[in-house]
Amino acid sequence: MSGTASVGADEAGRNLIWDHFAAMHSVVQGATRSGKSVLAYAVLVAASRDPRIRVVGVDPSALLLAAHRRGEDDPLIHLGTGDPDSACQVVERLVRLMDQRIRLLLERGLDAVPRDVHREAFPLFVIVFEELPAILSWLDSEDQGRKPGEKFAPRMRLAMGRLLRESAKAGMRVFTIIQRAEAATLPERSQYARRVSMRVDNRASVELLMELATTDDVDRIMALGPGRGVIHEAGEPLRFFRADFLEYTGYRSAVLAARARDAAQEVVSSESA
Ligand SMILES: Nc1ncnc2c1ncn2[C@@H]1O[C@H](COP(=O)(O)OP(=O)(O)OP(=O)(O)O)[C@@H](O)[C@H]1O
Ligand SMILES: [Mg+2]
Repeated sequence: MSGTASVGADEAGRNLIWDHFAAMHSVVQGATRSGKSVLAYAVLVAASRDPRIRVVGVDPSALLLAAHRRGEDDPLIHLGTGDPDSACQVVERLVRLMDQRIRLLLERGLDAVPRDVHREAFPLFVIVFEELPAILSWLDSEDQGRKPGEKFAPRMRLAMGRLLRESAKAGMRVFTIIQRAEAATLPERSQYARRVSMRVDNRASVELLMELATTDDVDRIMALGPGRGVIHEAGEPLRFFRADFLEYTGYRSAVLAARARDAAQEVVSSESA
């Protein structure tokens, strides 16, 4: 189990610990080839190794989330850009799950799902939006010529907005990946308490996401090499780091191996039950 795992090292040589259970939504920005995907591999391998966590979400590239699917038609994972309605449905289903969990919390007089409650049947959800601006512009293009009530982009924005505002207490964590932060394509920015920037070419995007960054920090972020970044978690100072390197094939097989172990564990525990 490693819902809390090291995904790199900071400048002082300390492990960069990514705690999925900490009640924070996360956003990672970075220009093309800056190392966003490689960092996401480390973060999502750590999630997949913990049977209490389920990785779900919307992935137009289809590369990042394919290995996390439970069956061909996983209702909580959307891959590719074939079917905008199904992409919206995935996120709307997560909102319904969130609402159920919030009702349960109210009944029990709790303000949040306690972290030790999570288990395979009641997982912590890590909800990935791979290249969010691409998701939104895909849906916008599908919306051309549609009646207002039938548009996809507003559905996605509404559902995602609710997840960002309300789901952390319900044991759900949004993990958004973007090339650069912009107010229009990163809705509910203030809800992201864990922010990572790899190299970004655009000063305004660094400043938008990294509110603590000094002018020197901004210069430095704009010149980072591949796999290098800076992280800001609410209440902490900025930390520059380098991410562990993992290739796509290594990522894919690590996720599949972790999933196979979970399945084997289920067989063992059902026999001993
Ligand atoms: N942590 C790392 N250590 C060493 N090299 C890295 C690291 N991360 C990325 N790289 C190098 O940078 C390349 C690009 O990384 P990656 O695919 O993660 O970029 P990206 O930001 O996702 O780009 P894109 O926008 O094209 O998806 C990798 O193929 C690798 O060569
Ligand atoms: Mg990438």
